[in-house]
Amino acid sequence: MCGIVGYVGDKQAVGFLLEGLSKLEYRGYDSAGIAVYDGASIRVEKSVGRLASLEEKIEGNMPKGSLGIGHTRWATHGRPSDRNAHPHTDCTGDFVVVHNGIIENYLALKEELIEQGHSFKSETDTEVVAHLLEEVYHGDFEAAVREVLRRVEGSYSLVFMSRQQPDCLICTKKDNPLIIGLGDGENFIASDIPAIIQRTRRTFILNDGEVAVVRKDSIAITNRLGEPVTKKVFEVNWNAEAAEKGGYEHFMLKEINEQPKAVRDTMSQRISKDGNSVLMEELKWTKEYLNSFNKVYIVACGTAYHAGLVGKFYIEKLARIIVEVDVASEFRYRNPIVDENTLLIVVSQSGETSDTLAALKESRRLGAKTLAITNVVGSSIAREADQVLYTWAGPEIAVASTKAYTTQLILFFMLALYMAEIKESQTRERIGQLIGMLKNIPAQISETLSDVEPIKTFARKYGFNEDVFYIGRSLDYDVALEGSLKLKEISYIHAEAYAAGELKHGTLALIVEGVPVIALATQKSVYEKTLSNIKEVKARDAVVIGIAAEGDDELQKYVDHVIKVPETDELLIPLLTVVPLQLLAYYAAITRGCDVDKPRNLAKSVTVE
Ligand code: M6R
Repeated sequence: MCGIVGYVGDKQAVGFLLEGLSKLEYRGYDSAGIAVYDGASIRVEKSVGRLASLEEKIEGNMPKGSLGIGHTRWATHGRPSDRNAHPHTDCTGDFVVVHNGIIENYLALKEELIEQGHSFKSETDTEVVAHLLEEVYHGDFEAAVREVLRRVEGSYSLVFMSRQQPDCLICTKKDNPLIIGLGDGENFIASDIPAIIQRTRRTFILNDGEVAVVRKDSIAITNRLGEPVTKKVFEVNWNAEAAEKGGYEHFMLKEINEQPKAVRDTMSQRISKDGNSVLMEELKWTKEYLNSFNKVYIVACGTAYHAGLVGKFYIEKLARIIVEVDVASEFRYRNPIVDENTLLIVVSQSGETSDTLAALKESRRLGAKTLAITNVVGSSIAREADQVLYTWAGPEIAVASTKAYTTQLILFFMLALYMAEIKESQTRERIGQLIGMLKNIPAQISETLSDVEPIKTFARKYGFNEDVFYIGRSLDYDVALEGSLKLKEISYIHAEAYAAGELKHGTLALIVEGVPVIALATQKSVYEKTLSNIKEVKARDAVVIGIAAEGDDELQKYVDHVIKVPETDELLIPLLTVVPLQLLAYYAAITRGCDVDKPRNLAKSVTVE
């Protein structure tokens, strides 16, 4: 996955290209490059490493010209290097391309092009696109691009530039995002909104197969068949500051602190005036519709999968419907039993995760009804699903997902209540009572966030340990999984989450003197059992940090430290207990000097397998 940008207008292209790429580095940051047409030829500059290396390279000698494209890379084919960095060119240097995705048939195309006399400079799949364009160009740039699209297989968003027709950029997409920002006498192309938000809020979101010829004062969009498409302008309703750090040192910390607002935004339009019902205008489900399903699957990856585990608990507990949860990369290849009586719920912050998208497409093909829970309006998953519930969390830039998780939990909780109301599986009083407690959650998250000093102390004290274990039962176990993922992905500490009852079946062997164990103990029905598990690890001299609800005066007797979160219904408590775990991961990463927003080997949205 990579970030791509394009500029056509009257100003120096390089300004927007570098600015846009800096906002897209979350998509990949192992190398970067730009290409600018200077009135005679196309100058390409690229550099391995962060965008800063490229900026250093061209400082004092910026490419000049008002037509350009740029790219920030996350390597798939070919290791990070100057020559594998995009943009890629043909043999003549007349055709230049940036790409996000994978050209699956590139080896066959490369062989063919080499036979035709083309010489390749990189190991990438993308370079074939530039040479193919050169090969099929017979005086009409757009016609040549269309011919290229007929020949390439795979997933892509692509921006093409040609010295032969230097008044425009041509772009297209399939299974990867691409938007066009509409300016005044200038237009922008980007993988995502943060890249353009400082220039314009007016956008076109390209659909798969559409081809856009973008000039400084016009944009012509056609479909696969070459027929004109009239697009609706999508007005971005969040501002540039929302995509900036707003005074925080890292996006992750900003996004952790945005959770009270994010969860409020997610729920506020979805509660009836009297506070006793959940409104899901997007769904309008009936009892018959719900009864038509004999199976509900929740499918997602990473943090979204962890949210799905909590979602299963909510739906089963409140709506009394059996739910199965699976990671998308497993689900799509296990020939799942899916038919028209299946409801498939996919969860994805970005709405672009390739395995989740593939699972969704396959399930639709098999006849399932599909519902997407996503944050990104107009994303591929949002467009593919039959129905969509948006989390409305605002842009999430940090690789480590935080506010996406809590807002996904809110939606699952509300969806479960909505189903329960339709199915009459809970009394009106119980539903009203739970909604009442739900409404307190934003303030309770704020309260949890205000008590950060002890967490900083733990992070400094234990941040250099090599192993950390997380244990819990029931919903606490689901949150433990998310806490351990957060820690490992940004601090590189080996962290494992175990269902506390499983410890004796193997993992207890790893518990030795001084090993930190984070024990969540908020679920009343299994509280005593969790306490016994805590005693087991204490007996092996582990250092235990307990996570409990206010009012619990018992846990502190058995652990070394306790972090308390406000009291609420035990169904809702994951929304609170996850917060100290996010903060612990953040401050552990800071203690170890890690690059929090850009952890090694990871990128924000995984649009390749
Ligand atoms: O955009 P998605 O929610 O589909 O992304 C899924 C995972 O890639 C994502 O949650 C990942 O696990 C995060 N880096 C975790 O913090």
